[in-house]
Amino acid sequence: MKYFVFTFGCQMNKADSERIAQGLERKKHKPALSIKEADLVVVNMCSVRQSAVNRVFGLKEKLKGKKTILTGCILKKDRKKLEKIFDKIIEIENLTKGLLGNSSLLPIMKGCNNFCSYCVVPYTRGRETSRPAEEIICQAKKIIKKGVKEIWLLGQNVNSYKSKSVNFPKLLRMVNKIPGEFWIKFTSSHPKDFSNELIKAMKECKKVCPYLNLPVQSGDNKILKKMNRPYTIKDYKGIIKKVRKAIPDIAISTDIIVGFPGETRKQFENTKKLFKEIKYDMAYINKYSPRPGTAAEKLKDNVSPKEKIKREKELTEILKKTAMENNKKLIGKTIKVLIAKPKMPVGKTKYNKRVKITGLSSALDSNGFVKAKITKALSWGLKGEKLEK
Ligand code: 5AD
Ligand code: SF4
Repeated sequence: MKYFVFTFGCQMNKADSERIAQGLERKKHKPALSIKEADLVVVNMCSVRQSAVNRVFGLKEKLKGKKTILTGCILKKDRKKLEKIFDKIIEIENLTKGLLGNSSLLPIMKGCNNFCSYCVVPYTRGRETSRPAEEIICQAKKIIKKGVKEIWLLGQNVNSYKSKSVNFPKLLRMVNKIPGEFWIKFTSSHPKDFSNELIKAMKECKKVCPYLNLPVQSGDNKILKKMNRPYTIKDYKGIIKKVRKAIPDIAISTDIIVGFPGETRKQFENTKKLFKEIKYDMAYINKYSPRPGTAAEKLKDNVSPKEKIKREKELTEILKKTAMENNKKLIGKTIKVLIAKPKMPVGKTKYNKRVKITGLSSALDSNGFVKAKITKALSWGLKGEKLEK
């Protein structure tokens, strides 16, 4: 049978999908290039935003006549309707049991205890559980031995990782000690657990990349309170200041929700102000959508869709400028680039910025790290020339 795995949502889901594929290959299924040519379609869904849920319902016609399995983050309320579209709904744990995966995406914890008022994750993924450190280290060693050059430590809230006496900064130090040339990146972090110990570990671990995704969600203290995010903008800026002091060249990204219930123009302007001050390298800007079962569902979703789009655009405009400014600072510099796929002239830097490279010749060249001189800055990436060693 030919299979196709359709993935929605975060990197966690991508990591799960890789393990689903691995399980299917073990059962001698072969990958299909598209849904169209597949006999078996596995949809790994995400319920964080309503738009992704709508897209899953939208697959109905395409799935006709195929064997179908649904998994991932599924809300109770949608289950009945989804049962009519899919042959089977299987919990992600059952689909990936015993499978570790060779990928660079390495889940270290799952679930969330934070209950941000807009978010379904605590309901679909359950409470936080951390994997034993020995198991993570063992898996990391295996994938590095296979030649993987970049490891992503994943979790809904990686910095609240805790297994016995090992917390997240300690885990970073343990992964950093594994021999070999590779990069360590992690996502996602919560400002509430962002300790000085973690900043120190990031600074001291040579393999940990100068890249940080620190979701702020809003630049207004009242909205943060309504979101049940237990920090103020002053706290957040304090963390960023400390991080930049310790790691001056760090690239910083964030997650934002525009149009949270009751968000006034003035409150939104505070988010714009924060964007201008922090000068983000990247931001994932989301338009608020009410999610079933969450606390915010009870609040009136009173910012119009048109206004949400407008706010999203306004933030994107600021981001474009700040990202460009930051990227320009890299022009003329020689940096290491990790090639995304063999023979492809694109890669990523330790700052998690994309680089288009000219001068890549043989397949050997493009398998792993190359040195490039940055020649051009764009808002969403860089251009560079490969240098001879
Ligand atoms: N509406 C819009 N965006 C949301 N996110 C989470 N819940 C919602 C929602 N109800 C965003 C947050 C989070 C990212 C993964 O998705 O910004 O960080
Ligand atoms: Fe959702 Fe908040 Fe948990 Fe992130 S920290 S997964 S936004 S509840």
